[in-house]
Amino acid sequence: MTSGPFQILPGSPQLFESAKAQGDFARVCESAGKPFYIETFGCQMNVHDSEKVAGVLMARGYRPVSSPEEAEVIFYNTCSIREKAAQKVFSRLGTYRKGRDSDRKIIGVLGCVAQQEADRIFERAPHVSLVCGSASYPKLPDLLDQLESGHRRITGLSLDTDECFETEMTRRDNRFRAYITIIEGCDKACTYCVVPMTRGPERSRPSNTILSECRRLAEEGFTEIQLLGQTVNSYRDPAPARLSFAELLARVAEVPGVRRVRFTTSHPHDFSADIVEAIDRHPALCDQIHLPVQSGSNAVLQRMRRTYTREEYLEKIHCIRSAKRAISISTDMIVGFCGETIEDFEETLSLLDEVGYDQVFSFKYSPRPKTVAGHLEDSVPEEEKGRRLSVLQAKQREIQNQRNQTCVEQTYEVLVEGFQPRLGQAVGRTTSNRIVNFPGEPSWLGRYMNVRVTASGPNSLVGELATEQTAGQVKR
Ligand code: SAH
Ligand code: SF4
Ligand code: F3S
Repeated sequence: MTSGPFQILPGSPQLFESAKAQGDFARVCESAGKPFYIETFGCQMNVHDSEKVAGVLMARGYRPVSSPEEAEVIFYNTCSIREKAAQKVFSRLGTYRKGRDSDRKIIGVLGCVAQQEADRIFERAPHVSLVCGSASYPKLPDLLDQLESGHRRITGLSLDTDECFETEMTRRDNRFRAYITIIEGCDKACTYCVVPMTRGPERSRPSNTILSECRRLAEEGFTEIQLLGQTVNSYRDPAPARLSFAELLARVAEVPGVRRVRFTTSHPHDFSADIVEAIDRHPALCDQIHLPVQSGSNAVLQRMRRTYTREEYLEKIHCIRSAKRAISISTDMIVGFCGETIEDFEETLSLLDEVGYDQVFSFKYSPRPKTVAGHLEDSVPEEEKGRRLSVLQAKQREIQNQRNQTCVEQTYEVLVEGFQPRLGQAVGRTTSNRIVNFPGEPSWLGRYMNVRVTASGPNSLVGELATEQTAGQVKR
């Protein structure tokens, strides 16, 4: 469990999926424009930003290719949530040599490392031509104009914006699941976190533009919509309709053709009962909520400035558990935060039992530059962080094992999202976000099928296509 909904690291299926799609696109693209390559690190918001950047480039006649070697324009869309993630881009940049590659290639660094470490990037990698944070993406066409006219060392780093990065040209990597960012930036101030610095202040998109995008996507054949934001439920509609987040969810769920709606990430402070009521009323809203807690200890939560206590968090969990449908709950946790004692850590472990999460994304605390906690003593030794992480993950594995066991013999509707040719297995996902592997065919991609679960493990289920008898009792 090293990657969470907001931590997709290179080598993960998502990146592979995107690289593969990029290759497919390259093959079908007839235009002979300049070849470009984008590698994406980090969360879904970054993945979706890259889709939009690719759309802007393609609208200008560039064509996507599947490797940096073939490309004349190379963009790295970076993540700086933890030290290790931030290092990735520097190891990529280290493979280019001035004079050899940089005269022929335009190299750009986008995203969160770009925003946070602009000067250091130019110092460490003088062959980089563009450094641009996500808040400046609306200016990307202008920046590209400058690059095309031969300028070097262009920066887009202003956070002083109320704009969102919207583009009609978005080149989506997945044929049936579409991401839509509904709120950019973050106004919370968690002491360990770089995001408010890298993505700027909160900006919500008007509900009318979100809904028209949903309708267009549904007409194009997308059946699953994922609404994105670092604090997605802090959404505040700037349009005259002034929809609440729960009302927006309901309206998206009512768009004809939309069968599944997910949203991530919800902040516990802004999580309200009307979200659960909307899920109760609208079958298209998935039975899944990601509600990061970070720690089970009030002392640690306070030092993290998470703005809720363990007890308040548990009230939200209680509200979700009282829904008419069984809603699966996932979370993010950090171990070894500054000053975390063994007793604090044990409170995090006891929270695992108390909530019974379906999935936990857990991380060792990584001090980050320019954050409040970055100035505190990183008191838990690396080795002890590692030990706590393994204890937490082993415990959660057991919990997931038990929870997934209850799915055996049940029949679920799954959306087929992948196919493993070597095994002849289709890979689908239930509305509760469980992965199910079952014998299938590549042509089933994008279809909704009823699958009876025959076996379970901590991270996935195994099943078979439901027969007419078993399909009668389909669980959503
Ligand atoms: N906006 C989301 C999460 C953003 S980052 C939220 O508020 O929940 C995704 C996850 O990375 C966080 O939930 C946290 O668990 C982890 N994370 C963030 N900063 C970190 C740091 N400095 N060290 C380790 N993990 C961190
Ligand atoms: Fe970071 Fe906290 Fe904002 Fe999430 S809510 S992005 S953890 S500052
Ligand atoms: Fe996402 Fe990483 Fe930035 S998690 S918001 S890409 S720091």
